Amino acid sequence: MTPGAPRPGDRQKVFGRRRRKGLDLVDGRFFDHFMDPRNVGRIEDPDGTGVAGDPSCGDWLLVTIRVARGSIDDIRFLCRGCSSAIATSSAMTELAGGKSLEEALAITAFDIEAAVGGLTKEKKHCSLLGEEALKNAIADYLARREKGRLSP
Ligand code: FES
Repeated sequence: MTPGAPRPGDRQKVFGRRRRKGLDLVDGRFFDHFMDPRNVGRIEDPDGTGVAGDPSCGDWLLVTIRVARGSIDDIRFLCRGCSSAIATSSAMTELAGGKSLEEALAITAFDIEAAVGGLTKEKKHCSLLGEEALKNAIADYLARREKGRLSP
């Protein structure tokens, strides 16, 4: 065997070392939402639109919703951001979809973070985008309805 060449079991050692350096701080739900994000896109002619951005990192999130009988009938997101912003935005759409407006307004960044199994200390702020954009989309819907542009 060539000196320095990988030996059987080395791959496991390297992977194990990487995990100890931080990957074990996040669980499978995070990777699932990041690798296969739900409800990506933008609703044509939505009932409500919300945007949120983090000036410190430049990441932003657009959320569009369709409302039927006082509940979120459809929700989509577009995100230009880090992996945590994408994963938590995806999780937020799953939490909010089908909920009444009151229930959706009660969703917090903590709920969103919990839905991906937690975030590292440095990434905790990323789940704020989802909460803020969702609340802004609902506020936009309520404002449009107030102005009579939408049926209740
Ligand atoms: Fe900015 Fe994640 S680093 S939202």
